[in-house]
Amino acid sequence: MANTNESGGEGPRLLEHEYDGIREYDNPMPRWWLLTFAGTVIFSVVYLFNVGPVGNGKGRVADYEAEMAAAAALVPTPAGVDPAQLLALADDAGAVGDGQQVYASYCASCHGPDGGGLIGPNLADNVWIHGGAPEAVYKTIAEGVLAKGMPPWEKSLKPEQMTNVTAYVLSLQGTTPTNPKAPEGEPYTP
Ligand code: HEC
Repeated sequence: MANTNESGGEGPRLLEHEYDGIREYDNPMPRWWLLTFAGTVIFSVVYLFNVGPVGNGKGRVADYEAEMAAAAALVPTPAGVDPAQLLALADDAGAVGDGQQVYASYCASCHGPDGGGLIGPNLADNVWIHGGAPEAVYKTIAEGVLAKGMPPWEKSLKPEQMTNVTAYVLSLQGTTPTNPKAPEGEPYTP
């Protein structure tokens, strides 16, 4: 079908059909637009074969789960904390020093500046309510004992702050606080 341009020159061309006196210009999409459109169609086919379950990709759900697992592996969970590593940190002046700063900012208000205990129990004696093994101390700090007024710290402290403040608490064993609170709980012997 031939297109006409009434003035005979460049410009929008009128198509030949006419319905109820309405005529239509032939306005093709610009070339760059058509090329972009064709490109997205080609890309969608390529993409389809890169994702599951059509192509050889694992699929969005599997990708998401893999990323979540990788992220979770970066954060030590109470079950994943190595007691030997915590004990080694308790002898590491750098870790203990960093843990002491965390303790001074977040813990001293309840456990006393030197761990002697205030609202919270004495952390310098060898008697523990929730267990004195390194992983038990870590677990109490991580999960807290909300009903008794001990907040959970796992979410608000960074992973290395968690291990360092645990190391600091462990390093308090055998120190003598100025104003110690009476022991509460069961004695722990390593
Ligand atoms: C708002 C007050 C408060 C703050 C802040 C607090 N604690 Fe506690 N903490 C407590 C109380 C109360 C308990 C006793 C829980 C119980 O009786 O079961 C406790 C218990 C503990 C225990 C277990 C002691 C045991 O005998 O088993 C540890 C370890 C501990 N806290 C460490 C920390 C550390 C480390 C921090 C800072 C990161 C901290 N706490 C911050 C109130 C607090």
